[in-house]
Amino acid sequence: MTLTIDPDALFLESALADLATYTDDSFDGWTREVLSDPYRASRDVVANRMRQAGMEVHIDAGGNVVGRLPGRASAAGAKLKPLMTGSHTDTVRNGGRFDGIVGVLGAIEAVESLRRAGIQLERDLVVVDFLGEEPNEFGISCMGSRSMAGVLTPGHLDLPGTSGITLGQALARYGVDPNRALQNSWGPDSVHAYIELHIEQGPMLERAGTQIGVVTAIAGIDRLMASFTGRADHAGATPMDARQDALTCAAAAVLAVEREGCGAPVHGVATTGRIEAFPGSFNVVPQEARIYAELRSTDAAWLNGAKRRVAEEIAAEAERRGVSQMLEWLTDQDPVPTTPALRDHIAAASSDLGLEWMAVPSGAGHDAAHMVHMGPMAMIFVPSVGGRSHCPEEFTDTGDIVEGVRVLAATLVRLDRTETIAP
Ligand code: GLV
Ligand code: MN
Ligand code: MN
Repeated sequence: MTLTIDPDALFLESALADLATYTDDSFDGWTREVLSDPYRASRDVVANRMRQAGMEVHIDAGGNVVGRLPGRASAAGAKLKPLMTGSHTDTVRNGGRFDGIVGVLGAIEAVESLRRAGIQLERDLVVVDFLGEEPNEFGISCMGSRSMAGVLTPGHLDLPGTSGITLGQALARYGVDPNRALQNSWGPDSVHAYIELHIEQGPMLERAGTQIGVVTAIAGIDRLMASFTGRADHAGATPMDARQDALTCAAAAVLAVEREGCGAPVHGVATTGRIEAFPGSFNVVPQEARIYAELRSTDAAWLNGAKRRVAEEIAAEAERRGVSQMLEWLTDQDPVPTTPALRDHIAAASSDLGLEWMAVPSGAGHDAAHMVHMGPMAMIFVPSVGGRSHCPEEFTDTGDIVEGVRVLAATLVRLDRTETIAP
């Protein structure tokens, strides 16, 4: 069997360039936020590309574009659990052209490569472009994969957005019935295996000069909002030792968050992404301030400890400064290890193709983290140039994407022939 990925990578290059034209030009870089007009239009393109590759396509109740390549067994009436692959095509604001997109277009190219090689799988192969993986104005990520995995909740639908409507209302406006989205679950043990191809979004593969990353675990994420209330005073007349400055307290909290990430003995990072101050004048000591921050790690014990330490440090800082504070944990997502048996298959497929691979953790969140509710799950990473991602400079060489697609296709073929996968 020879799996050839379109030697000139014509499909991948043209499809990546084509999708990149569906962009909101009012922002820098590439911006295709979930539920936006460019996003809606781009998904027709994805659906058409799936059809051209021979898949039956529908939009499911969770707003996912789902392509199905029938396998020999189901064509003969037998019931085998399907293989599944995919990712997302929404971007962060001012983002890039590869995050998620490589996993969707790469999956379609993997299907094409099977066809070129004359391989019909026994099992159905399902390719999914999941609805909205990136966090949105409602503060929720992975809407489509949560819906399919049965972990989208009524509480999520009630989340308020910055534009004054709830997530449920926004989904309805987009054409996704929120109540049906809650009932879209495939259930546990419903897929034979889920494999997601993705760019690394960090520098490890490039630094090691390695083409393929076999993901060990997807980081857990804990997000917090801390608000500080001090006292508004005249910025010229109030001595430095007589202030209750909410913003300097918030700044100290930002540094406490950073310190936690810097001190992590395992994979762990900590980021404050937003700070707000009120009333926001040069000449008034700030009365109110808020920070929005997150902690991430593939190590659950560190994450739990970091949550406690950050909360304690922020409380101590506020007390020292005479500022009152309130800390709210907004979301938490546990770290998710990938399935060891699938890692072995990806590593073996890479070695068979003469490619070097290494085990890497994923600091980024992925739809795959939810797919674990449906069966065994693993991920393949390809290098990000300079480790850059979530910015316009995000780039992965076509040659590296092609190698990732070859590994994806070869892994799917191996898994098709594997009867049981150890959990
Ligand atoms: C998604 O890309 C995330 O990791 O936040
Ligand atoms: Mn992504
Ligand atoms: Mn992303």
